[in-house]
Amino acid sequence: MLSKDDNDLITRVGPGTPAGEWLRRYWHPVAISEQGDAIRTHWDYAKPMIFDGEPGTVGSFADRLGNFTGKPTPVKILGEELVLFRDGSGQPGLIGRYCPHRNASFEFGRIEPNGISCCYHGWTFDRAGKCLAMPAEPADSRFKDKVTHTAYPVREMGGLLWAYMGPLDANGEPPVLPRYDVYAREDGIRAVENFGLWPANYFQICENSVDQTHTAILHGGVGGERRDIWGTEIPKTTWEPIELGIKATAKRPGMNYNRASYFILPTMNRLPQPWPGGKFRWPRFSALWRTPVDDTHTMVFSVCFTPAVDGKLPELPAGLSFDITDQLLVHREQDYQAIASQGRITARTTEKLATSDGGVILLRKLAMDGIRAVQEGRDPQGVRRGSDTGAIIDLEQIVEDDLNKIAI
Ligand code: FES
Ligand SMILES: [Fe+2]
Repeated sequence: MLSKDDNDLITRVGPGTPAGEWLRRYWHPVAISEQGDAIRTHWDYAKPMIFDGEPGTVGSFADRLGNFTGKPTPVKILGEELVLFRDGSGQPGLIGRYCPHRNASFEFGRIEPNGISCCYHGWTFDRAGKCLAMPAEPADSRFKDKVTHTAYPVREMGGLLWAYMGPLDANGEPPVLPRYDVYAREDGIRAVENFGLWPANYFQICENSVDQTHTAILHGGVGGERRDIWGTEIPKTTWEPIELGIKATAKRPGMNYNRASYFILPTMNRLPQPWPGGKFRWPRFSALWRTPVDDTHTMVFSVCFTPAVDGKLPELPAGLSFDITDQLLVHREQDYQAIASQGRITARTTEKLATSDGGVILLRKLAMDGIRAVQEGRDPQGVRRGSDTGAIIDLEQIVEDDLNKIAI
């Protein structure tokens, strides 16, 4: 259980809030790129996922993000109203939604060679927020040199668009965007997916990643032939803090089945990804990110990567595909119901944590440590500044699943 103050501390994501400042030290995926060569999928559940009258996914804000076209698109990230776009050279930009002149939205902006111009009076900004033009001002006016606009760096990697909304270093540079294998490796097939907009605070979705017990109870024995690989045996789980977050090892001695996943601060879960039913054998792994939209809404993105082995890609048996959309629908609905029903921001003041909640307790501690580091003027765990060496961070040694290990 947490005090009300600590629950507020860990769940509020807006500018100037403690967790908001902590989260702003990291890159977050904000949309699926329309230009990457990954397979793009979108959670399109047969029934609308509505909870308390609020749509959770398709047809909402999430739909637009998942289907970013490069045209100016309003987005909300970490409580800030923004517009994602590509300038005339094709470079992605993320700027404040409302024009600093008189607040017209840049979602109606016009793309210029080096930026975007406001539809109303033409004030033009580049991707760094520098004002390039004020067409209605006198030719000798220097006013445009005095006006800047909110703008955040955006990078493209692994089929996703990533944004950094925190402080830059002395050279005006953001931290290095970590090259995690799942989206940085090029020797395989990648599928990126928009899991939709969830009406829940980001932190309770993250807590689900270190709650291995639920896999046997919420999902146990369901999913049918395609996905029922976890069974109903409650795993004996250990959680250990390692370099970037928490390694969770779940053992099922009755099934002779072990599995380890890696929660990477602040919102990423790096998973092994066995094929449906565990019958087809080929390495495959995935990652999930929970990008806070505001205090009570979260975008969930997923990348699934199937590597080539000895230069060869697998020939998939009939009914299997490289993306995981159709294989996880039952589990996602169950996770969604459990997590959304905890409340938009769950009341940690009244919960009763038990021994199976060791991972949840550890995750809260690491988040609090990160928040404190930022309050003390340091970068939190996992943030690296300086030059990008281009090295890929290979996590296959940490993230394991017996069903992925079997020799091909
Ligand atoms: S409101 Fe944008 S230029 Fe006037
Ligand atoms: Fe789950």
